[in-house]
Amino acid sequence: MKILAIETSCDETSIAILDTKNSRLEVLSNVIASQVKIHQKWGGVVPTLAKREHQKNLAPVLTKALKEAGMLKKSKVAVKNSKLKEILIREECLYEKLKKFLEQYQKPKIDSIAVTVGPALEPALWVGVNFAKALSFFWQKPILSINHVEAHIFANFIQNQISDIKFPAICLVVSGGHTGLILMKGIRRYREIGETRDDTAGECFDKAARILGLGYPGGPAIAKEAQKYIGVTYVKLPRPMIYQKNYDFSFSGLKTAVLYDFRSRSSKIRKSKEYIRAMCAEIQQAIIDVLIHKTLKAAKNFKAKSVILGGGVAANNELKKQFQEKVKKDYNPPATPYIKFYIPDSKYCTDNAAMIAVTAYFHREEATSRWQKIKVNANLKIGDEVYPLRGLPSS
Ligand code: KG4
Ligand code: ZN
Repeated sequence: MKILAIETSCDETSIAILDTKNSRLEVLSNVIASQVKIHQKWGGVVPTLAKREHQKNLAPVLTKALKEAGMLKKSKVAVKNSKLKEILIREECLYEKLKKFLEQYQKPKIDSIAVTVGPALEPALWVGVNFAKALSFFWQKPILSINHVEAHIFANFIQNQISDIKFPAICLVVSGGHTGLILMKGIRRYREIGETRDDTAGECFDKAARILGLGYPGGPAIAKEAQKYIGVTYVKLPRPMIYQKNYDFSFSGLKTAVLYDFRSRSSKIRKSKEYIRAMCAEIQQAIIDVLIHKTLKAAKNFKAKSVILGGGVAANNELKKQFQEKVKKDYNPPATPYIKFYIPDSKYCTDNAAMIAVTAYFHREEATSRWQKIKVNANLKIGDEVYPLRGLPSS
């Protein structure tokens, strides 16, 4: 079975092809066109620009993904299809590019098409969804609606056999669009037990980096500076909600504390390497402390057998290192039950279509030929049914 997956929920245009021979998953290609340079000058993702870039990038990314997977075969046909134009009515430049692609290349030997439908930026999501609908219609292939947050968890199943993962698991999804804890009792059995009440951890990294003049995206920039820190302390930042009894997070106060400290400094200190590095190390540590404490508290209270991380912030090496050390130290059998810690390779932490393809594999029986019914849901929750599903009345 081969799945072609499309991801356009934020500022990466990505297409992957997954091969699933005897339930062994192999990523044949995972092409990502990053828009970071476009959004950098605005200090964050601008939805209308993201939409335009996805429209430009999708056809070239598709060509590259099929080529890398060894599935790009030349052809020469004239495509005159008013339906195709109608599906892409809001994506004019995408229509022209896709038409050219379909005239040049044969229908690939794929079994289904998967696409992210939410939660994320609505205008960005629609480009990928309309593109997927056009391909589903033209190639007569079934389509699958995928939840982006669930996919960040499933990124762990690219390199680990799902059968090795023991449930219940506590999943921490920590990205720019989402920060929350999910109790996972099994495949597709979720309960969101906590989430951020304001900014996500990724937003906190991004906003703090902007205050310090480090550019976008803030996470990697702060991690880089923190690595050079040599031990001079300027300020102890808060660890918001760390000892509260719930599993919620709050990161906007941390960003504000960074802003107040920055404003209180002379321009000489603000520009000094020592100050920037010390602030970066402290911001990173404050976020790590909260994430580790709350996740392991949930793991203990729900008697989890696994802790699973996912999302762009999970690409942070220090977070990974400290999580691994803490799990090893605190869960030392036979005195305490054993917990296994999972984190994807960093290329599968940040947005990518391989994670969408793997999630689609686990939802494969939900594939539908009713592409007309596929809809974006910018506020989709994990565990929500993505329409159309089996059992719903057919139209
Ligand atoms: O998962 P992702 O690519 O997109 C969303 O679904 O939001 O996450 C992007 C976020 C950004 O806020 C970025 O600053 C953060 O992940 N990020 C990191 C690192 N790499 C990306 N944060 C901390 N350390 C990193 N190495
Ligand atoms: Zn994401």
